[in-house]
Amino acid sequence: MYDQVETFLNEQRSSHLDILQDLLRIPSVSADSAFAGSVREAANFVRQQLAEAGMEAAIHETPGHPIVTGEWRKAGADAPTVLVYGHYDVQPPDPIDLWTTPPFEPTIRDGKIYARGATDDKGQMLTHILSAAAWLKTVGRLPVNVIFVIEGEEEVGSNNLDDFLAAHKEDYACDVAVVSDTSMYAPGIPAITYGLRGILACEVTVKGPNRDLHSGVFGGSVKNPLLALSEMLGKLQDDNGRIQIPGFYDGVTALTADERDRFAALPFDEGEFQRDMGVKALFGEEGYSTTERRWARPTCDVNGMYGGYTGEGPKTIVPSSATAKITCRLVPHQDAKELTESLKDFLQDNLPQGCEMEFRTYHGADAHVFDTSGPFFQSASEAIKHAFGKEPVFIREGGSIPVVATFSEIFGVETLLLGWGLNSDNLHSPDEHFSLDNFYGGIQASARLWQELGQGGK
Ligand code: BES
Ligand code: MN
Ligand code: MN
Repeated sequence: MYDQVETFLNEQRSSHLDILQDLLRIPSVSADSAFAGSVREAANFVRQQLAEAGMEAAIHETPGHPIVTGEWRKAGADAPTVLVYGHYDVQPPDPIDLWTTPPFEPTIRDGKIYARGATDDKGQMLTHILSAAAWLKTVGRLPVNVIFVIEGEEEVGSNNLDDFLAAHKEDYACDVAVVSDTSMYAPGIPAITYGLRGILACEVTVKGPNRDLHSGVFGGSVKNPLLALSEMLGKLQDDNGRIQIPGFYDGVTALTADERDRFAALPFDEGEFQRDMGVKALFGEEGYSTTERRWARPTCDVNGMYGGYTGEGPKTIVPSSATAKITCRLVPHQDAKELTESLKDFLQDNLPQGCEMEFRTYHGADAHVFDTSGPFFQSASEAIKHAFGKEPVFIREGGSIPVVATFSEIFGVETLLLGWGLNSDNLHSPDEHFSLDNFYGGIQASARLWQELGQGGK
């Protein structure tokens, strides 16, 4: 039976590529309201694909962008129910000038498809829809019950997804979740990711004089908001890379010797890693390896900062305000909501006299590390080995997918994070791309996963 599916997948390669290209042409940028129509168009496209696959498909409105679901539940009560999650929204394409070909005109070069969303997450997400379609169109059934939940707000923090899932706690009760929105460890080294960092995102504005002032006439008589903000931000981290927000590390557990050994056993060329970024030295929290810093230690970053005059040439002013966008990456036992308050208090406590501060919270999500001992991880391992010819390595990653902590809280399930992408795919950067081998491999692994999960039972 499975052979039929595989034959079909081989025959459908070019039609699968057409579907991917059609989806990539839709500029579903969730962060920018100017793209709201396209975001909806992408939702409709995904709904259509789920329906054409043979699932019961629906669009659900939220206060933000719509959520798309697809269900097929005829595998029987003994078969596991799998919740598949993905996102159809994408990051803004900026800076557009740095793209070799336009971000929403998918182009194939060198076995890779270039477009915003190619790897994050349209290409990866589609692998599961296309594999389910292949089963339903050939065998006429799937070995498992499936519920697809594909959202349009992942890149802006999934702020409406938790409420939606909580409202469907009974409807979407499941045995395991599957998400392809992470990376392989390296080209040719497939991976199952068993842990992600959490995140908190906010913005701080320091306000000074009621207007930009002549820096000759007024300079020296008032606090400069950009300097004030720089001072505050400078206090966030010490010289050893330790974050100075009170309570930041409370409850954070030390890495076990076993996990440190497993991280260290993975092939990693630090020199190459450094050269790839074009920096003269690496920097991070003292006492931890680069891999530990990226996967299992919390951080605080300033994502952008502005104020005053940023146009061409000089301008002599004391600006009226200054703003910074800040994110922290979190690890298990850190609470995104609590730490957002701690960060706000820290900034307020360090606000120079004479300035006012405004603070805005964007989103937050807790970190999660899964217990990989159950049979589902074994099934996923088998499926990946079958499709990619190699056993996956078990890794953690530093990125965040807000919903994975929610799946564990609401449904009590583990998530199989099966990444078909590569860290070198330029996700969130110009020239984002996805290897077509990994696209087709991902579809095959997914098709095999349904088989393995069905055989494994609940
Ligand atoms: N797919 C990424 C997350 C990711 C990428 C995890 C690579 C592991 C490896 C996801 O779309 C993403 O970008 N998430 C955001 C979080 C969000 C709240 C903005 C992130 O990690 O910055
Ligand atoms: Mn993603
Ligand atoms: Mn992303």
